[in-house]
Parts: sequence; C-alpha cells; structure tokens
Amino acid sequence: MEFFRAGNGDDRAKAKKKQALGWFEWGRGWYNVVWEFLFQRITASHLENPLRLPPLPGLTCVVTGSTSGIGLQIARQLAEAGAHVVMAVRKTKLAQELIHEWQRERSGEVPPLNVEVMELDLLNLESVVRFAEAWNARLGPLHVLINNAGIFSIGEPQHFSKDGYEEHLQVNHLAPALLSLLLLPSLIRGSPSRIINVNSIMHYVGFVDTEDMNVTSGKRKYTSLVGYTNSKLAQIKFSSILQKRIPAEAGINVICVSPGIVHTNVARDLPKIVIAAYHLIPYFIFDAQEGSRSSLFAATDPQVPEYCGVLKSDEWPVCPYISHDCRPMNASEEAHNLETSLEVWEKTLEMIGLPLDSLEKLIEGEQVQCRYVPAKE
Ligand SMILES: NC(=O)c1ccc[n+]([C@@H]2O[C@H](COP(=O)([O-])OP(=O)(O)OC[C@H]3O[C@@H](n4cnc5c(N)ncnc54)[C@H](OP(=O)(O)O)[C@@H]3O)[C@@H](O)[C@H]2O)c1
Repeated sequence: MEFFRAGNGDDRAKAKKKQALGWFEWGRGWYNVVWEFLFQRITASHLENPLRLPPLPGLTCVVTGSTSGIGLQIARQLAEAGAHVVMAVRKTKLAQELIHEWQRERSGEVPPLNVEVMELDLLNLESVVRFAEAWNARLGPLHVLINNAGIFSIGEPQHFSKDGYEEHLQVNHLAPALLSLLLLPSLIRGSPSRIINVNSIMHYVGFVDTEDMNVTSGKRKYTSLVGYTNSKLAQIKFSSILQKRIPAEAGINVICVSPGIVHTNVARDLPKIVIAAYHLIPYFIFDAQEGSRSSLFAATDPQVPEYCGVLKSDEWPVCPYISHDCRPMNASEEAHNLETSLEVWEKTLEMIGLPLDSLEKLIEGEQVQCRYVPAKE
C-alpha cells in the first residue's frame, strides 16, 4: 500500500525538508479562516440549534474540558440524550456543581442524568496515564472519546509544561494523543466507537517542524499563534496515521472537527479591548451551543462511520474532517503530506513516552509501558 511505502527515516532525511508554509499556502490558509468567520452562520443555517440528538441510552462518552465552552455543551447535551457521560476535567468541584445545576433544572424528569467526574490535567502526562489506567481498570466499554479540552493563550509568552513541552503542543496535541492510545482497550470493548478531536480551521495556517516541535531552535519566532496552529495541525497529522493504522475490523474511527469561531472562554487571555470587540460581533460568532454541533454530529450521526469507511478504503491521506456546518471538509494541503504525518506520528510517540509499536500491541490486547508512570497515591 502506498501509505506504508512512505520511506524510512534515511530516505526522508535525504529529501529537502520544507521549513515553513509557502506564501501562497499561508494566504490561502488565512482566506479559509476569514471565510469561516464571515460565512459560518450562513453555511450552517440548515442546522438546528441545539442539534437534535437521537436517544443515546447505553452510549458511554468521555468528554475532556467539559467545565466550560464547547465541552460543557457537548457533555450536557449527550447526557440529556441519555448517554453516560464522563467529564474529564481539571476543576472537578466545578464539574460536580454543574451536574447538580443540570439535575436541578431537570427536576422531575426521569431518568436522572448519568454523569460522573474524573480528574484529568492535560498539562501533566502522568495525570493522563492515571486517568486511562483508572478507566481501563473498569473493564467496561468506551464508545466515544471527545478530545475537546484545548488552550489558545493569545499574546502570552512561551510556557512549558512540567513534562518539558510547549503548552499548546501538550494540551492540544500530545496529551490527547496519549489519552486516545491508552484508552484503545476500552474503545475496542465499545466498538464500533469513535475518537473525536475538536480541532480548528486555524490549522490551515499551521506548520509542524518535527525537528523543532517545541519551537525553541530559533528557526522560527514563537508566538501563541504559532503554538496554537502548529498543535492543531499536528493533531490532524497524528490522527490521520492513527485512523489509517487502526484495522477496519477494530471498528474505531478517528475524526477531527472544526467547531467554527465560537464565543467561549478560549479568548480569556485577550486584551480587554479585544474581548469587548469580540462581544460586539455576535452575528458572526457562534455561541457554545452552536459550536458544539459538529462534535455532537461526529460523535452520534449514524452516517459518520460509513463516511470514515469510504475514506479509509480510498486510502485518503487525511483523517475524516467535519466542518462547523456538520459537512465533510478538506483539511489543509499541509495536512495531506503523508510523509510528514508519519514523522509527526513517530515524534509524538517518542514525546509521549510510548514505544513505536504501541498501537499494534494495544490492538492485539497486549500491554504497553509508558515512560510517564504516575506516582502511587
Ligand atoms: N472557541 C473557538 O472559537 C474555537 C475555535 C476552534 C477550535 N476551538 C477548540 O475548541 C475546544 C474547546 O475550546 P473552547 O472554545 O470551548 O474554550 P474554553 O471555554 O476555554 O474551554 C476549554 C476547556 O479546556 C479545558 N482545559 C484547558 N487546559 C486544560 C488542561 N491542562 N487539562 C484539562 N483541561 C484543560 C478548560 O478547563 P479549565 O477551565 O480547567 O482551564 C476548559 O474546560 C478547544 O480544543 C479549542 O481549541 C475553539
């Protein structure tokens, strides 16, 4: 298969490495971002708000970052449709308060919401391993993993996690990648199952240099925009290889979605004047409920696995991508580069402390050892 002929490391090193997006790609990328901003309400005008979900009893979903914004809406709506929802969050007390509030607002309605809270801090890879071990130890199925939690620390200087990685890269890409792989045993038990990654149209202006994942070499100047867009592109590239390498029989699909441009706490780090302007353009910007629709669609629509299957059998180089209007969309040209996707795959496994053959072992039901071992509690 063409995909497996992407060449070994030496072959790839011989080819002249691309160092950045070309001007044309960059301009086209921004054109796509501006287009989504200006026309998202029109292109998504066929959608209901909230999205109507089928009854979901028996469906178990983990939603990361569900105490705020898009994730909160996803968790609440899945739970209201009858799913068992696990809020995987840093602020566990806030999550408990939200559940009480949702239950109170529904008082009298039966059955009560089936929502629980588990602690997960994506800035700490040991926390990711602890979460996955705790979940897998239940030996139950997981049907949907929604990697929603993310950061865009606009205007902030470069920060590193205690694991030593640039924070956008860790929260938006590395930690969700580790979580997805470590939860595979539960996703296999829940098969047919789905991994949904809440990505962004901003990946169109991202570029991943696998020799400089942390943007510390000085080849490129770090800005939060560089950190964010690179992390979102890295997530697509990793997801593309994951989707390709999971055998069809395993019944797990990996899908990226764009929520649109959404009014949430993601802009909390913007200067006050920009936040004020943000409030003045509500016509263009989705609210969090509107922003949750593409994730909910990707997680629950019965046609999605069929679409994923078609792309898989066509050997399409990119994982399925669902747009803010719940239609399939094409990821950026850079996302289509299988050779660099393979490099991102290998580099990511190295960074998250997993052996290169982890996926194959996990699919076979074998154990894998992660370098990030949580301290005993
Ligand atoms: N809003 C947009 O316009 C837009 C556009 C495209 C894509 N997205 C993507 O949509 C996703 C959701 O963002 P949002 O707009 O809803 O922003 P948000 O309101 O800021 O929500 C982000 C969520 O992620 C959680 N989170 C952040 N760092 C975390 C960590 N280290 N460990 C665990 N959870 C963490 C936050 O929890 P804490 O409260 O504990 O920080 C929060 O619950 C993100 O992946 C974002 O990149 C958003």
